[in-house]
Amino acid sequence: GNEMITVDGGNLKIDGHDASKLASTYGTPLYVMSETQTVKNFTRYVESFKEYSEKTGKEFIISFAYKANTNLAVTRLLSKLGCGADIVSAGELYIAKLSDVPSEKIVFNGNCKLKEEIKMGIEAEIRAFNVDSISELVLINETAKEMGKIANVAFRVNPNVDAKTHPKISTGMKKNKFGLDIESGIALETIKMAEKMENVKIVGIHCHIGSQLTYISPFVEEARKIMDFVVLLKNEGIKIRDVNLGGGLGIPYDKNTKIPVQKDLSKAVLDVIYEYEGKIELPNLILEPGRSLVATAGVLLGTVEHVKETPVAKWVMIDAGMNDMMRPAIYESYHEITPCTIRAEKEVVSVAGGLCESSDVFGKDREISKMEVKDTVAILDVGAYGISMANNYNSRGKPAMILTNEKEVSLIRARETLADLISKDIVPNHLL
Ligand code: LLP
Repeated sequence: GNEMITVDGGNLKIDGHDASKLASTYGTPLYVMSETQTVKNFTRYVESFKEYSEKTGKEFIISFAYKANTNLAVTRLLSKLGCGADIVSAGELYIAKLSDVPSEKIVFNGNCKLKEEIKMGIEAEIRAFNVDSISELVLINETAKEMGKIANVAFRVNPNVDAKTHPKISTGMKKNKFGLDIESGIALETIKMAEKMENVKIVGIHCHIGSQLTYISPFVEEARKIMDFVVLLKNEGIKIRDVNLGGGLGIPYDKNTKIPVQKDLSKAVLDVIYEYEGKIELPNLILEPGRSLVATAGVLLGTVEHVKETPVAKWVMIDAGMNDMMRPAIYESYHEITPCTIRAEKEVVSVAGGLCESSDVFGKDREISKMEVKDTVAILDVGAYGISMANNYNSRGKPAMILTNEKEVSLIRARETLADLISKDIVPNHLL
């Protein structure tokens, strides 16, 4: 949950700092990232999985899925804690390097890697490219050859497992674009091709079945299919050093639903892996969580600007919008909304941003404490896929961002200015 949030005398606090005061000091919309909560989330992963290394002598690596939040302060914080990086672009690799992530903790994902990106990854001697297609494998081998290097490759397989999550963030079924199909033999065929290539080294198997998983059973099914495949490969004479089970653990956006936590994931997954002891040499284990490391640590603060009533609803309009946080608009996702000054009286309101789109609504018909113009309002659980998906639609600058811990508050992203909005536009001479 959001352990960094407390309510004191009706005022919401984040890591002990008054949220309304943060809003007036730094302006809104404002992303607040709690360092303490991020550390807690990471530590829970480490604690839950540390028995794997103790029991097997194999490595356990957590590579943070950078797409969830690439603010440099956040990535550096995680890197300092010993967390690796799951990257999907040259940009994310650049940020991982700036965050001092050691190359052996960087894995490269994505279903359409570009030659330039592959070059950068080989140069950086990353732990593995998670290969998504034969054509990509060929390109990696070719590129490595041109560079006189050997590229480490793992294979993203598609295990055909239903993650039981939102269709837009489900990735491990046959109908999805991701991975190499196991059942039809495409995955094996690809790996056998790699065996014959001179400039790639086979290091692992990778899989990611989807995001915001709220059940453990798909993870169990995934782990079993992957481990069975590793056994099959062993019988073909191919040794697998790393098994990467991807990310996907969900978080309780709705505080009334109880969903699995890190410990439940480790128990379920490790039990499956231990079953294979003796059949194969157990692999190193890699996970790529994004959301479950940072989502709960992030809060988006906005200011109530207008309140209006229509025949069917009472609308509270705030200065944050779908350009700052897209999740509700594109996935109809639920985020808790709470005023930062909590009054006894409650009312049912819909909370919306100011963009010219009917989907720019953060919450419909919510029963929350009464809000007034100029109140600060908090949208919770936005630390993942919040700022990283923000954009400039309606020519709005992206929000500022601060990092809090119990001692201090630091500005970690400057608010975009009006000049920033046109900084890449070029007006040709005849229009000057
Ligand atoms: N590994 C791979 C290969 C991925 O594609 C992803 C997420 C992750 C790891 C991290 O998954 P997580 O632990 O965060 O569930 N924008 C969407 C989520 C898209 C997830 C894309 N891939 C949202 O806001 O819900």
